[in-house]
Amino acid sequence: MLHLSVNVDYVAVIRESRKTVEPDPIFAAGIVEMAGAHGITAHLREDRRHIVDRDIRLLREVVRLPFNLEMAATEGIIKIACDVVPDQVTFVPEKREEITTEGGLDVVGNRETLVRAVDRIKEKGIETSMFIDPDPKQIEMSREIGAQCVELHTGEYANAQTVEEAQKHHEALQKGATFASDCGLEVHAGHGLTYNNIFPIIGIKEIEGYYIGHSIMARAIYVGLDRAVRDMISIMKDERG
Ligand code: PXP
Repeated sequence: MLHLSVNVDYVAVIRESRKTVEPDPIFAAGIVEMAGAHGITAHLREDRRHIVDRDIRLLREVVRLPFNLEMAATEGIIKIACDVVPDQVTFVPEKREEITTEGGLDVVGNRETLVRAVDRIKEKGIETSMFIDPDPKQIEMSREIGAQCVELHTGEYANAQTVEEAQKHHEALQKGATFASDCGLEVHAGHGLTYNNIFPIIGIKEIEGYYIGHSIMARAIYVGLDRAVRDMISIMKDERG
């Protein structure tokens, strides 16, 4: 089923900019849920720069929607995931210097680490997803190591400076989505998607889930979070029914 999972990290970004208690991503998740979104996403980084352990535990307790935890495949974070048991774990690459996640995960190059991580997460009954570029080798390897889903990285498409460049990345996403779906993987997409650039991506029928944060939170500053979420859902419904 077509779904929108809203990333609430940006609420924690504002909170942590003052090292205070507000705004709270847990409140935001409640509003996102009431506005009709289909999932909540949060990224627990190793440096805890925005989402912190308390957020993950409370999101698990409070949110009724499928909870997707984005994380690196490192020992400490895997332990937390196995303890909190989100509905889904999305493995992402993580560099300390980056502003946000840059580039897809290299599943081929990190096969050994990821195969163990996937096994441990799946043992807990948690669904696993790999955040990857739409590269057939990465898709194939994601399937081989046992992931159930892939999230195709739409960042390059979103950052394209010309129509031709955007078309080239769109084509790669379409091909990647078809290949992943043929491999039996559930296909998601995310990163840099906005109320404007999402239209051609919604046209890719194999994509079942959209993982969006920044653009929704940016709109929420002006119109409120409830309306911002509803606006995105209504685009998705209008385009795909
Ligand atoms: N998917 C993944 C794996 C991400 O790391 C992010 C950014 O946190 C997103 C989706 C959402 O990207 P954006 O905030 O640009 O919508």
